[in-house]
Amino acid sequence: MKIAFAEPDLPRSGAAVAGIWEGGGLTPGARRLDEATDGAITRALAGAARFSGKKGELLAIVAPAKLPLSRIVVAGLGKREKADARLYEDLGGALAAHLNGAGETEATIAGDVAEEAPIAAGEAAAALAFGAALRTYRFDKYKTKQKPEQKRSLAQLTVSSEASDAAERAYRPLQQTAEAVFFTRDLVSEPANVIYPETLAAEARTLEKFGVAVEVLDEKAMRELGMGALLGVAQGSARPPRLVVMQWRGAGRANDQPGPLAFIGKGVTFDTGGISIKPAAGMGDMKWDMAGSAVVIGLMRLLAARKAKVNAVGIVGLVENMPSGTAQRPGDIVTSMSGQTIEVLNTDAEGRLVLADAMWYCQDRFKPRLMVDLATLTGAVIVALGHNNAGLFSNDDEIAARLIETGKAVGEEVWRMPLGDAYDRDIDSDAADVKNIGGGRAAGSVTAAQFLQRFVDKVPWAHLDIAGMAWSSKDAATVPKGATAFGVRLLDRFVARYYEDE
Ligand code: BES
Ligand code: MN
Ligand code: ZN
Repeated sequence: MKIAFAEPDLPRSGAAVAGIWEGGGLTPGARRLDEATDGAITRALAGAARFSGKKGELLAIVAPAKLPLSRIVVAGLGKREKADARLYEDLGGALAAHLNGAGETEATIAGDVAEEAPIAAGEAAAALAFGAALRTYRFDKYKTKQKPEQKRSLAQLTVSSEASDAAERAYRPLQQTAEAVFFTRDLVSEPANVIYPETLAAEARTLEKFGVAVEVLDEKAMRELGMGALLGVAQGSARPPRLVVMQWRGAGRANDQPGPLAFIGKGVTFDTGGISIKPAAGMGDMKWDMAGSAVVIGLMRLLAARKAKVNAVGIVGLVENMPSGTAQRPGDIVTSMSGQTIEVLNTDAEGRLVLADAMWYCQDRFKPRLMVDLATLTGAVIVALGHNNAGLFSNDDEIAARLIETGKAVGEEVWRMPLGDAYDRDIDSDAADVKNIGGGRAAGSVTAAQFLQRFVDKVPWAHLDIAGMAWSSKDAATVPKGATAFGVRLLDRFVARYYEDE
């Protein structure tokens, strides 16, 4: 889909979108269309008893009189004083879905959809285009027999606004964001026979073209570093593990720079559970157990693409968790890079083992000023929070508050959960320093986070358990069902808001 911004004009082909405030106030574009069609919009508003202009409401007038348009879509904007970027993103998403569903090929948003609203016209137009782009994503490269009606029809979207130049400028970073989000969604969607540690590392390497320094550590390098926890997970697979280090130095190399912001991702390219094997039903979902790593890779790409004025490092631990004659057994004791020994009582609690070494390596080498890890870590977080919030765990109230705030602003919400000594005692092992599961089924996400905290070395840290958020089974306004890339936008805005303008 091509996106363009233009000065307001009466649309004369394809579909036209007319914005209406709650209660019936017409935007300038809607007024123009109404006049040109001898009051088609006013008549439709009078006739549609349940349409009141609430946000999200859409009303189609097919083949309106007087104008050669295929349809006019009347779009509810809600209350003018509440109009913000999220409203326009969601509207753009809903419109993209509607227009594609109707088989429209070309559409024009008649401006100005933000007249007298508390958001700049250009910003609103850009947000609308961004939402439409995000919703139009599809992973269909393996569908060789799609009928035309199964494909996206909308080829051209024009957003008209008095501030079309400002809109174009505001859209540029949003387009880079959409591209990074799509990159992450693609990586998560790819099956595990295509994306495994070596190929995912190769995808990370493509960030070099954005100016990211990329290093890939192989098994031998990790063995020399003493990464027994990560390697223990990998040893059952025919696919060798990788650890990828991505550095973006947007704030320069001066000695007075604080340590980098660090982002760590769980990259289990397939999680069978290992010898503690998972049941067959739904196991295919575990191809997206590398979502945390794909989010970190997409985030690093975005920071570099938009030349963020910050130093950041992204580290992803890539392994495949398989059962085999060489697989690790329940009860095995491994030594992590930190020196702590771990009793592996359940080989399906593997993500924390991978992260333990990736986090330790990160702190040891980079002395980061803060560290955020992302992982599809526990089924228990889905029991606790469902699919509306990621679980947030942190040893730092300021970082936690910043992530919660930013999550609300971008629509990727996180809910803080507790850490504490009582939970920590639950992972004391009889045989080693720590065991990789808690005592029973209680507080599974907390004991997992508690395990990670044993590998945090006095660094401000936050852990996002995204098991419920990485993949979605139903369409949302700006996120079609499938891989969501949850976390890319959250962390990009988190960086921009709090760490770039210091
Ligand atoms: N990758 C899973 C967590 C998961 C489950 C993500 C369902 C998304 C959907 C993780 O490696 C895992 O298997 N966790 C176990 C931990 C348990 C063995 C302590 C779990 O949640 O059951
Ligand atoms: Mn597992
Ligand atoms: Zn897993």
